[in-house]
Amino acid sequence: MSHENTTAVIAMPGDESLAATLAARLGARLSVLEFRRFPDGESYLRLDDSLDGRSAVLVARLDRPDAKIPALLFAADLARDLGAAGVGLVAPYLPYMRQDIRFQPGEALTSASFARWISSHFDWLVTVDPHLHRYDSLDEIYSIPSTVVPAAPALADWIAANVDRPVVIGPDAESAQWVEAVAVQRNLPWQVMRKQRFGDHDVRVTAPDLSGLGGHTPVLVDDIVSSGATLARAAELLTDAGLASPRCAVVHGLFGARSRETLAAAGIERLVCTDSVLVDEGEIELAPLLAAAVANMLE
Ligand code: R5P
Repeated sequence: MSHENTTAVIAMPGDESLAATLAARLGARLSVLEFRRFPDGESYLRLDDSLDGRSAVLVARLDRPDAKIPALLFAADLARDLGAAGVGLVAPYLPYMRQDIRFQPGEALTSASFARWISSHFDWLVTVDPHLHRYDSLDEIYSIPSTVVPAAPALADWIAANVDRPVVIGPDAESAQWVEAVAVQRNLPWQVMRKQRFGDHDVRVTAPDLSGLGGHTPVLVDDIVSSGATLARAAELLTDAGLASPRCAVVHGLFGARSRETLAAAGIERLVCTDSVLVDEGEIELAPLLAAAVANMLE
């Protein structure tokens, strides 16, 4: 169904190409947001379009969120001021989901605070595999309707097309949901390791019995690569066990400052992720899955 007269897709800075692809897939209008910074660093926004009665769909990759959030909230307010009938958010990576508990007394529960900000500015949310660990669902912290798009089918397709005799391995218990989904999709063997985290860059991973996997190519699957420590420690265990150099298929490639060096030093042959974050490794395209989810939200 064409959304030409009912929907305007608006890109936040840097996400124009993803927004254009989504607009084309939805048959929706693409409204251009002018954005610049004043000399003092504050944001200037202008939308040269009448949104009267249209649903506005803001598209924003929200990695490195602290530099992006004020402009995003301004843009949502602007769309409403200009007469949008509703304002939705497509955020393929949803940040601030990992601080889902006070690990130490007095810590900020940023997952809940961030959810309140987004819920108070948007009418709905479409995202891809948010880090749901201690929360079962986004509904526990988001008060707006949300659709979670699973990336597992796209990861499974990439593995099937690019890896010979894959065995899917999760580096920690939290990854089991993605590992199992990918493996079941393509009827592949799978295993999950255990992890303890002692600091941002300091994790200890232990492996189950890996014997019997000779002849398979290990593919580490996880939702996030950040410091790279989790995948690096897991990869070392695989090569120590005499398996082939591992490949990695990850949903969100956040990549911290030294993570690529860490991953290369661990002997990882190749790492790919989705384009939820704009990185060279982001070769798994999410637009088809996102467009279908947005179309459902707009119905
Ligand atoms: C943890 O809960 C996530 O699933 C990832 O394993 C983790 O965020 C990866 O982080 P890093 O690359 O910093 O080890």
